[in-house]
Amino acid sequence: MPLTAVVLAAGLGTRMRSPLAKVLHPLLGRPMVGWIVQALQDVGADVVVVVHHHEEQVRAALSPWKVRFARQESPRGTGDAVSAALAELPASGAVVVTAGDTPLLTARSIQRLIEAHRGECSVAAFEAPDPTGYGRMVPGVGIVEDAACSPEQRRIRIVNSGLYLFDATYLKAQLPRLQPHPPKDELWLTDLVGPNAQVLADFPPDEFLGVNDRAQLAEARGILRRRVNRVWAASGVDFADLDSVMVDVSVTLAPGASLANGVVVTGKSLIAGEVGAHCVLHDTVVFAGARINPGSICDGAEVHSGAIVGPLARLRPGADIRAGAHVGNFCEVKNTIVHEGAKANHLSYLGDADIGAGANIGAGTITCNYDGVRKHRTTIGPGAFIGSNTSLVAPITVGDGAIVGAGSTLTQDVPADAIAVERSPTKLTLASADRLRAVYRRRGAK
Ligand code: UD1
Ligand code: CA
Repeated sequence: MPLTAVVLAAGLGTRMRSPLAKVLHPLLGRPMVGWIVQALQDVGADVVVVVHHHEEQVRAALSPWKVRFARQESPRGTGDAVSAALAELPASGAVVVTAGDTPLLTARSIQRLIEAHRGECSVAAFEAPDPTGYGRMVPGVGIVEDAACSPEQRRIRIVNSGLYLFDATYLKAQLPRLQPHPPKDELWLTDLVGPNAQVLADFPPDEFLGVNDRAQLAEARGILRRRVNRVWAASGVDFADLDSVMVDVSVTLAPGASLANGVVVTGKSLIAGEVGAHCVLHDTVVFAGARINPGSICDGAEVHSGAIVGPLARLRPGADIRAGAHVGNFCEVKNTIVHEGAKANHLSYLGDADIGAGANIGAGTITCNYDGVRKHRTTIGPGAFIGSNTSLVAPITVGDGAIVGAGSTLTQDVPADAIAVERSPTKLTLASADRLRAVYRRRGAK
C-alpha cells in the first residue's frame, strides 16, 4: 500500500524573530523540517511539503531529500493546508499528516501509528502536563480546540499531537466539506477527527516539542544532540560528555574515536582518532591513532595516524598532516603537506608549502607565501632544519638535509646539504653595559 505524507510548513514563525523561515533553522547541520522529512522517508513515505512563506528557500533547503511541494495560496488553517496538497495525494492508501516544526518526532513513532492504524483516521495523542494551547481529545466527540473547550473539557490532559494517519479516500471526500471557524475563518484539520477516529493516547510527549521560539529551538537542539551522540556511543565512540559534544548529522565517527568536552564537529568530517577538549573541526579527517590536542581549530584538514596537532593549533583547508608529524601550539597551516615525522612545534605559519619528511621547523618560522598579488610555494626537503624565526620568501626551495640559521630572511633557494645563514654581523662593545646604564640613570634623575 502506498504511503504518502503531508508536512505542514506554510507558517511564518513570527516568534523566532528571524529573517530565516522558521522550519529552516538548523539543528545539528540539518534544517528543522529536514528532520521530519527524514523520519517520514525512513518509514518509506512519499513526502509532500506544504509551503507558502519563504517558499523558495524551503524548496532549496529540502532539495537533498527529493520531496514534492504543494503551495498554500493564502494560509487559512491546517485543514486548508492539507487541501492545498490534495492534488498530490493518491486516490487511495494511507496519508500521514504532521507539522513541520516538531523536529523531535521519530520514525519509530510514525511507524507505530502506521501499524496501529484502523478505519478512516488515527491520531497520535499524549498526556500533556500542561494541555494549554492544544486540541483536547474529547471521548465521543473528537478533537476540541483549546479556544472552543468548555471549562470541563479544558481539564482534559490527553491532547492532539498534530500527527495523524488518514485514509486517502476519506481525506479527499471530507476536506472540501470543512466549514470555516470565525473569527479568522480558518479551516481546521481537527474537524476531520470525529468520534469514530482511533485515538492512540500514549505517544511520547517530548517528541512533539513544537519549536516556536529560539528557546525551544535550543531545547530541541540539546535533545537531538544527545540522541545523535548516544547512537555513536553505542557504536563504540567515546564521549567525555553526551551533552557538551556537538556532532552534526553530516559527520561520521568511527568506533574507537574519542571526543572530549566541548568538541564541535561539523561538515563532512570523519573522526577515528582522539580529539581534545574544545576543538572545533569542520570538513576534517582525523585518522585512527592521530591526536588533536585541546583548543585546536581545523577546517578542511587531514590528520594521519600518529600525528599530533595542537594544543591551540589552526589547520586551514588543504592542511595535510602525515603520519607521525607534529604541529604544535600557535601554528597555522594552510594548503600544506607536513610529511611523515616532520615537526613544527611552535608559533609558525606554513602556507602553500611542502614540508619534507623528518624536517624540523623552528619556532616562529614563516612562509611568506603572498606578494600582495599572487601566492607562491615553499618547498622544504626531507630532513632539513629551519632555525627559529626564519622568513622563507616564496617561491623558494630548501634542499634535503639543508640547515638554515635562526633569524634568516631567505630569498634564494638553498641547495641540499648546504648551510644558509642570512644575518648581519654582531657589533660587540666590551665592558660598556654598566656605563650605559649609569648614563640612563643620570638622565632619569633629572
Ligand atoms: C494544531 C492543532 C491542535 C494540536 C496542535 C499540536 C488544528 C486546528 N489544531 O494547533 O489540535 O493540538 O496543532 O501542535 O490543527 N500550518 C500551515 N498552514 C496553515 C496553518 C498552519 O501550513 O494555514 C502549519 C503550521 O506552519 C504548523 C502546523 O501547520 O507547522 C500547525 O499549525 P498551528 O497553527 O501551529 O496549529 P496549532 O494552533 O498549534
Ligand atoms: Ca503549533
